[in-house]
Amino acid sequence: MTTLEEGHVPVMVDEVLTMFAPRPGDLLLDATVGLGGHAAAYLEATAPDGQIVGLDADATALATARERLNEYGDRVTLINSNYARLKDAVTGGGIVEPGGSSLQQSSPAESPGLYTHCLFDLGIGSHQLASSDRGFSFKSTAPLTMRYGAQEGLPAAQLQPLNYLEQRLGHLPDAQDIVERLHKDELALVLRTYSDERFSNRIAGALKHRTPRTADALAEAVAEAVPRGYERGRIHPATRTFQALRLAVNRELETLSAGLPQAFELLAKDGVLIVISFHSLEDRIVKQYFRERSKRGVGEVLTKRPDTATVAEIAINPRSRSAKLRGIRKKE
Ligand SMILES: C[S@@+](CC[C@H](N)C(=O)[O-])C[C@H]1O[C@@H](n2cnc3c(N)ncnc32)[C@H](O)[C@@H]1O
Repeated sequence: MTTLEEGHVPVMVDEVLTMFAPRPGDLLLDATVGLGGHAAAYLEATAPDGQIVGLDADATALATARERLNEYGDRVTLINSNYARLKDAVTGGGIVEPGGSSLQQSSPAESPGLYTHCLFDLGIGSHQLASSDRGFSFKSTAPLTMRYGAQEGLPAAQLQPLNYLEQRLGHLPDAQDIVERLHKDELALVLRTYSDERFSNRIAGALKHRTPRTADALAEAVAEAVPRGYERGRIHPATRTFQALRLAVNRELETLSAGLPQAFELLAKDGVLIVISFHSLEDRIVKQYFRERSKRGVGEVLTKRPDTATVAEIAINPRSRSAKLRGIRKKE
């Protein structure tokens, strides 16, 4: 099996295309291009001349996207950047992947307000879960890094202990730094804030006591700290802890709050922004931002309630089970 075949199955592609209703010549800003699944579907739908500008914080994912989207030639521009710096990235500040067209004066990526569509498909891709060296998955024996990519210039964390830790370290803390260096109460606060973990105190206590250094050891320590029958066995007991650490390491909520207004600004009039999120903390940020745009009269919310995946899709792609899709149209 090739990497691409094993790779990420894009979520809610039909729903995305229906809401975008893209036409030839349209231009997508894909803020989380990942392995290029949504991007490829968009390029097909907008043939022969629709274009995409695809961003990803993860250079490894971008390299795969480049391979996958190679057949679309200069209809594709790929940029290695965090979407917290979306505007800078598309106006020339990001690193353009070789194989993507370069950002020259004539590039569609240059001018704000040109994009017909923008997509955020949030969180972690299966390519990252499968990568053996970053500690994203419960079974990984890798060190506890959990970084998507380079982290310069990310917004401050909403939790002060994480900002103080960053100052002390001189760099953004990775998962190991957070588990090891924060005080137990601060660690519990991270777990509660970024995953609503009910057993945050018990888990933080166990992690301080056991000081796991690999992802599998972390998962085991959490499983032993929580009561039997955690969440009635529906999820692995360490799911929330891993989510919280990943969100804290990558400042996921903070980068989302920073990225959405930039994306909205980059949209053309009547352009559509879609966000697919996978947990309530992200969805709340999207919902509130869309509501604020609508109240100001500059956006028309296209989803009163979030759209969800069909039963058929969930059956073949379990990751789509928790997907929530929201869309907004820019009015002016
Ligand atoms: C769920 S995957 C996207 C999959 C993609 N839609 C596809 O069809 O293959 C999410 C991607 O977003 C990237 N990502 C997460 N947070 C990011 C951020 N703040 N800035 C840029 N990329 C980010 C991850 O590296 C990952 O590749």
